[in-house]
Amino acid sequence: MNQPKRHTITAALPYTNGSIHIGHLAGVYVPADIYARYLRLTGNDVLFICGSDEHGVPITIKAKAEGVSPQDIVDKYHAIIKKSFEEFGITFDNYSRTSAKIHHDTASEFFTTLNDKGEFIEETTKQLFDEEANQFLADRFVVGTCPKCGNEESYGDQCENCGTSHNATDLINPKSAITGNVPTLKQTKHWFLPLDKHEDFLKEWILKGHKRDWKPNVYGQVKSWIDDGLRPRAVTRDLDWGIPVPAKGGEGKVLYVWFDAPIGYISSTKEWAAREGKDWKPYWKDKNTKLVHFIGKDNIVFHCIIFPAMLKSEGSYILPENVPANEFLNLEGNKLSTSKNWAVWLTEYLQEFPNQQDVLRYVLTANAPETKDNDFTWKDFQARNNNELVAIFGNFINRVVVLTNKYYNGVVPEPSEFNKIDEETLAAVKAYPDVIASSIERYRFREASQELMNLARLGNKYLADEEPWKIIKVDEARTQTIMYVALQIASALATLCEPFLPFTSIKLKNILNVTSSVVETSWNDIKSKNILIPEGHQIGKAELLFSKIEDDTIQKQLDKLEASKKANQIANATVDPQKDTITFEDFTKLDMRVGTILEAEKMPKTKKLLKLKVDTGIDVRTIVSGIAESFTADEVIGKKVTVLVNLAPRALRGVESQGMILMTETLDGKLVFVNPDSSFEIKNGLSIS
Ligand code: 2FM
Ligand code: ZN
Repeated sequence: MNQPKRHTITAALPYTNGSIHIGHLAGVYVPADIYARYLRLTGNDVLFICGSDEHGVPITIKAKAEGVSPQDIVDKYHAIIKKSFEEFGITFDNYSRTSAKIHHDTASEFFTTLNDKGEFIEETTKQLFDEEANQFLADRFVVGTCPKCGNEESYGDQCENCGTSHNATDLINPKSAITGNVPTLKQTKHWFLPLDKHEDFLKEWILKGHKRDWKPNVYGQVKSWIDDGLRPRAVTRDLDWGIPVPAKGGEGKVLYVWFDAPIGYISSTKEWAAREGKDWKPYWKDKNTKLVHFIGKDNIVFHCIIFPAMLKSEGSYILPENVPANEFLNLEGNKLSTSKNWAVWLTEYLQEFPNQQDVLRYVLTANAPETKDNDFTWKDFQARNNNELVAIFGNFINRVVVLTNKYYNGVVPEPSEFNKIDEETLAAVKAYPDVIASSIERYRFREASQELMNLARLGNKYLADEEPWKIIKVDEARTQTIMYVALQIASALATLCEPFLPFTSIKLKNILNVTSSVVETSWNDIKSKNILIPEGHQIGKAELLFSKIEDDTIQKQLDKLEASKKANQIANATVDPQKDTITFEDFTKLDMRVGTILEAEKMPKTKKLLKLKVDTGIDVRTIVSGIAESFTADEVIGKKVTVLVNLAPRALRGVESQGMILMTETLDGKLVFVNPDSSFEIKNGLSIS
């Protein structure tokens, strides 16, 4: 028997300063889980590794904001994230954390090995320093203009706009994120990984070796960095949260989070091996192991350049065969944002859509940002559920199970002769495992999910064409064959859907009563066996696999997003500064009255101006008002308004305006009247005091 191929699959370690949202799921965890599940189903030796990334500046910033310790923050989010992954069916073989002792030991040892081998440059250079906070400004402690794309909000180590990774001193107009001060420069010693020294190896390994098999978005980014020329990168920081630098002169310094985090994959493997009584080394050191990193596009430089350079410098590790990074997922047309609460949070989804993990898994896969940024919309979520999962997959299974119960008390019938359509249908089913596998192995998970849906479509079409509900009246033997064939398709679906829809797969296998090893179908069985579910086998009762999602459920989610938008507008609303103080006498000079708009018309060739006739109680006068973008002429006729009547007249587009209507603005920039209280009858001309 062939030795199963060994795979080490890693999924980016999430930062523990917040929960997981759909962007993380679509970009990293859902595709990685599909890949791992598929490889397990096809008989491979799979180790799927992840853990919490608990160091780095974002965690200390969050801790400061909440007035707690960084350890409190990571403990809280590690527990939340781990639990939500489990509930969502992400099948990590181990989920560790970088604050674990095994990780501190592994990362320290890795650093020491490189240091002892002379793989670092130790150098004292000037770094950004905040005098007021008495702190060096690394990474997210400093913001400034990105030297590459001009984004004014770039962090010290990476620009989120263009993805470039740089040194904090490269920023233009840097500002401290702690105090807002302009930093000074202060001497400090650090350890640098000379990436320039690895340029030739990286060119050979990636630019020549992986031109064809890496995704164009990944290859393109890496090529552009290498073409720009690589420079030494500091792998230590003057911070107090992280892994202490294990070297002379390293007191008060820690490892750069992006030095220690990828080593977290190795320490998580060690933790798993110790628990399972296995040897961790082949998963990282045997050349026959296939190492694949699943990440988002902002992590490309770290996984394709820096970590490989570290592994190469160490000397005994394998390198990744592929890094199938995804692009970003947006939400309802806007960039996902934790700070703006513009996200669909996994924890909330799990609560609000109980037992519907597979719906989100499916939608995020079918619409995955594999080659370009993509948009998640709740309407699309509803449509994919109702029109694909319910109407195609669920409908096919339901018809098969209901009819089998109705005609044969749930016993798989004996087929009579297969006609051409039956033969073709059964042959088509046999082809699906390879078709889906080929897409998955090329990291085309969208395509793979659509092939799965095509198999359900094939089943639906077969039933619709063969019409067993009609044939039963005239030809029992033929009906048996039709139902037998349909049951084979259902059985194939139960197995092939597992990587994508794992909860549905379990449910369907229970309905078909195919969970015992006697009748359980493997991925490879579908390609080779003529019978997947044998005649005489008793299946269970029908149960809905998916249910329709109604408009009001979707509206609730849209309302939640709208509330986030409003809250952000309030938080970010810029209020004009107060004008110079005036005396009471100045104020009494204003003559404000209540008036009624009698007539209104749009001023020709203007966008903003309405010409109004206003009854002020003392007279009827013309007022030209810049409100046409907020109101039509018809809307304002009859309105009571507050009018400043003693404003000096002035000509606007040739019309003399004899006063001013008082207006204010809503948060979304719409003008509204400063209204005399409409619950009372107010006389025109009443002065306002
Ligand atoms: O971008 C992130 O969320 C990082 N915490 C990913 C780290 S991946 C790995 F290197 F640990
Ligand atoms: Zn940039």
